[in-house]
Amino acid sequence: NWTMEEFIGKEIARIREICGPKGRVIGAVSGGVDSTVAAKLMHEAIGDRFHAIMVDNGVLRMNEAQQVNDMLNKDLGVNLTVVDASDMFLSRLEGIEDPEQKRKIIGNTFINVFEAEAAKIEAAADDEEKRGAAAKGRVEWLLQGTLYPDVIESISFKGPSATIKTHHNSPLHHPLLTSDEVRALGRLLSIPAPLVQRHPFPGPGLAIRILGPVTRDQVKILQHADSIYIEEIRKAKLYDQISQAFAVLLPVRAVGVMGDQRTYEQVIALRAVQSEDFMTADWYVFPPEVLRRISSRITNEVAGINRVTYDISSKPPATVEWL
Ligand code: XMP
Repeated sequence: NWTMEEFIGKEIARIREICGPKGRVIGAVSGGVDSTVAAKLMHEAIGDRFHAIMVDNGVLRMNEAQQVNDMLNKDLGVNLTVVDASDMFLSRLEGIEDPEQKRKIIGNTFINVFEAEAAKIEAAADDEEKRGAAAKGRVEWLLQGTLYPDVIESISFKGPSATIKTHHNSPLHHPLLTSDEVRALGRLLSIPAPLVQRHPFPGPGLAIRILGPVTRDQVKILQHADSIYIEEIRKAKLYDQISQAFAVLLPVRAVGVMGDQRTYEQVIALRAVQSEDFMTADWYVFPPEVLRRISSRITNEVAGINRVTYDISSKPPATVEWL
């Protein structure tokens, strides 16, 4: 049996032993609790020899890249680079409606962008070595956090690299961690509470919450509606009772009325579920006044939306996401 404090100490020692006195490690972060915990552990173990990379894929939540940058760089001291690749992602997604295609494009583009950024860090490190500057060494390791497991595993990385598995998936070194344990770890590592408690967010992001083609305008509409939704849930102090909540953009034209004019605008569907493991999920019963406030704010504040619906489907037979 082990305590979380012991686990942290052992994990840091293990990372130091694997990495040795020299050499850099790179790893992807998303702003989720898993990759943040993984990044923070790396930073505790080897400081600035760990390079975190966050890819802005253009389908993140509102201000997400900026917030993750502030939190990791400023609050947690992690050496993070945010790569704005939104143009590349959005242009490759142009006209694509099929959700599996969207997932594939986002996964592949992520790998391209991550590898290009890694190559830049490698080139700079090699250059430093050659000049004999006080070097942290070459890039030798790729951090495999629990986040994006399917994406990261497929990154081929040149050089004497291998994989550090920081928490899950390493039964040789420590017990598997549940998501509650990762959260406990996050709290001990002084990761801010709102982040530790955060709902999960899918890798393909808002692209699978826009039913139909993804455009910058559609992303903006959904980001705005989603941010109002989450803000009101937090204000009502319901966030921690809900396992996952998000808005979905339905690109149909519903009729509405504004003054004496008819409008034909899009629809926002709100989703909120309670779930133990996301294999099954129950739709969440909101107090009606909270839904009323959310609906009124979205229809008043988000241009292009004249109707809000609430999804009362459980899983199964529905899934959590709409796509
Ligand atoms: P479903 O829709 O399958 O969702 O009931 C269950 C959980 O998985 C998340 N989800 C994804 N996460 N990439 C991800 O990283 C995906 O393509 C994806 N699809 C669904 C979903 O948000 C929920 O937490």
